[in-house]
Parts: sequence; structure tokens; C-alpha cells
Amino acid sequence: MKASRTGQSEGGIALSRIAAVRRREADRFAANRPRTRERVGAGIAGFFGGVPMHWMLDWPTPFPILVEKASGATITDVDGIVLADFCLGDTGSMFGHSPPPVARAIRRQAARGLTYMLPSEDALFLGDLLTARFGLPSWQIATTATDANRFALRVARAVTGRPKILVFNGCYHGSVDETFVRIVGGQPVNRPGLAGEFRHFPDTTRIVEFNDLPALDRELAHGDVAAVITEPVLTNSCMVLPEPGFHAGLRKLTKKHGTLLLIDETHTISTGPGGYTRRYRLDPDLFVLGKPVAGGVPASVWGMSASTARRYAAYLKTKEPGYSGMGTTLSANPLQFAAMRATLEEVMTEENYAHMERLAARLEAGIAAAIGRHGLQWHVARVGARVEFICAPGPLRTGGEAEAAHAPALEAAIHVALVNRGCLIAPFHNMMLVSPATKAAQVDRLVRAFDEVAGGLAA
Ligand SMILES: Cc1ncc(COP(=O)(O)O)c(C=O)c1O
Repeated sequence: MKASRTGQSEGGIALSRIAAVRRREADRFAANRPRTRERVGAGIAGFFGGVPMHWMLDWPTPFPILVEKASGATITDVDGIVLADFCLGDTGSMFGHSPPPVARAIRRQAARGLTYMLPSEDALFLGDLLTARFGLPSWQIATTATDANRFALRVARAVTGRPKILVFNGCYHGSVDETFVRIVGGQPVNRPGLAGEFRHFPDTTRIVEFNDLPALDRELAHGDVAAVITEPVLTNSCMVLPEPGFHAGLRKLTKKHGTLLLIDETHTISTGPGGYTRRYRLDPDLFVLGKPVAGGVPASVWGMSASTARRYAAYLKTKEPGYSGMGTTLSANPLQFAAMRATLEEVMTEENYAHMERLAARLEAGIAAAIGRHGLQWHVARVGARVEFICAPGPLRTGGEAEAAHAPALEAAIHVALVNRGCLIAPFHNMMLVSPATKAAQVDRLVRAFDEVAGGLAA
């Protein structure tokens, strides 16, 4: 895999050409949105940086899109522009905006109280639903995937009595401090760019490249790693697929060294109703799923295998009394129960996933054909309903390769150009999600737009 960036080009396109396309497309974006420009163009009053959350500045558009409404796989902005939404809230709305069963459940629950730190009748169904779906027998509910990961890692350290975790280079598991480690120049370091960090995270964390089983064996042999935390596919680093035998090797090595395996399915739930875990028969000790699990209502779940749950129960009998450091006040509220039950029972269905898979395959084929047609050395990868184009040759094998494959200026120019052609994709990399509400015509529109933009860049 060749690096995508040189001093003068990205993805084989000259930087001067990329800059010209970006300027032209940014001007067009702004000219089409007089109302948005007037209301948010100079920043929203009262917010630091002009936005309620700083990630909203990561969009490559000259100013954020001001949303009037979103429904299904469509976003309408205050200028009346309608976009086919393939970002879907960076997976939070993977099953479409306000899926009707979830909207109904929210309406029903809204009249019955929103948070009371007690179970509701919906909760009586949830534990069994989660076990039937994902296979692990003991669950807890939290509010973000970050928190679910944090709590599951605490359990891993508690039951193993070991201080460290192991991550794969290029990973992202939310804002969990100890996962913020990268390999730079062959050495583990704090992830570049962190604000206000207070620790040298390599003290808490071992790191190796994804797909590198000998390195994993070597690092686990220190005997101080409580858990390996990983996505089944590295989705936060372009898209790095596991090589044949990687997951079997990962499970074998974690068992050999007495290390727990935490699978974070927050993005790879795009694979199927039971996630990558069920599709490929993974066997995690700890399991995390956040973002879309309640159809867009903030909620997450973390599960323990029978043996992990047994060990944790035994540990709790021995620990000194006092606060465990887990749990947040609004977690496991009745709105979450209602929305999650509706999502699991009525939205994350085999039928909906079949639709997602079919259209995602159509999108993947269309993008791959466009790349080939324009003679670009780019590639496309997919895990179920999640498709990603990468402006470098592939497949990628490691997070390090994925980092080198990023083409920030080129990707930004493409993203704005796609918005101008009616298609929104994720701002951080080139992720395109297909929901149960996505239409074939929307997929075809994105393929046409990509073809036109890629052709213009390559010409
Ligand atoms: C794999 C994975 N895990 C966890 C998270 C954290 O999710 P949240 O920001 O909702 O806490 C993310 C966010 O992108 C993620 O990609």
C-alpha cells in the first residue's frame, strides 16, 4: 500500500487542483444557502467556537448545514435543500431518522415520565432480547458507547487484577482515555492532538497493529493485560478488514495469556442484526454496543459472558464497600428502555438488514466502477451496510497503513462537492451508511455524484 499523500498531491491528484475544486464547491455551497449563512455563517451566538459541540466544525463545508428536519434517510435544511443522508449521524441514526416504531415508543413514554432510576415494564423484555440477539447472558445499560467501554474495561481490570489494556493502532472507542495511544516512529505515544491529557497513556496501554498476531502474542506475554479492546473491523481508520484467521488467532491468544476480549460493535453492527459477532461467531468476554441501539436516543449496552459475570460477582464480594466508579445518573432510563425495545424488536430486523445489505452492495459496486473508470488508484471497502471509499490503493492491513492512506484535503473537496450534488457523507472519513429507509434512487444519486466529482478531479 502506497502512502496517499506527497508534498504536491493526495490520492494521485495535484494539491493545486484539489484546492481549486474545494474553493469552487465551497462558493457554490454558500451561494445556495442564504438563510443558513445569515443564521450560522458567523457562528451561533453564545457557543464557544460558534457551535454547540466542536465536532460540528469538522464538516468540510464553509459553515454547518442548519437542519430543519430529518426523516428516513433524508435531511432538509433551512434553505429548503434536501439531502440524501449517508452520514446518518455518524451511525447514531444507522436505522434512519426517527424510525416509526421508535418515534411511537418515544411518544408513548414521553407521557409516562422520562427518568426515574427504576425499571419500567419495557426493561422486563430487554435483558432477554439482548441475550437472544448477541449471545451474552448478563447486561448493563449506559448512555454512551464511551461509557460502556469504560465500564467494561473496569470489569476486566477488576476480575483479572491486571493493570493494562491492549489496543490496536488506529482504534477509536470513544473518549476513553487509556485507548488514546498511537504508534509513532515505532513507539507508543499519546494520540497526537489530545487536549488537557493528564497521563502518559502508554503506561496503561499496550499497542500493536491490527492483523499482527505475532506482535499481539509478544505483548500479551508480559502477563499484565486485562483486556484487548477492539472493533471486529477497524472502522475508525478508513476501513481495515480482518485477514483470514485473525479473529480465531485473537481469541486463541487472549485465552492463552488469560486476557479478556472486549468486542466493540458500535460501528460494525452494520454487519447484521447480531453484529459481526454473531455473523462470524466471535466469542467475546465483554461486548459493547452504543449509538444506534436505541434508534437515535442516547443509549448503550455492555454485556458479560457467563464466566466474566461470575468472576465479577465474586470480585464484588471481596472489594471494599463504596462507589464502583461506574454508572451515570440518567442511564437506564425508561425512554431508553422504550426506544431500545422498539429498535431491537421492530427495526433491527432480518428484513431491514437484507435491504441495507442489498443497497450497500449496489453502492460499493457503483463506487468501485467509478474509481476504475477514471483510472484512480483508490479502493472501496464494506462491512454490511457501511461502505467506505479510500483515496489510496488497498486493501489496508493495519491502522498505520490507514493513517498513511488518509487524504484530508482531497476528501474535504469531495465531501463538499457531494453535498452540492445532494448527498451527505460522514465528515471524518469517507463513510457512507445505508439505512432501512434508504432508497435505491438515493444510492444511484450518490454513485452518479461520486462519478462526476471523481471524474472532474482526475481529468
Ligand atoms: C467503535 C466505537 N466505539 C465507541 C464510540 C464512542 O461512541 P460515543 O461517542 O457515542 O460515546 C465510537 C464513536 O465513534 C466508536 O466508533
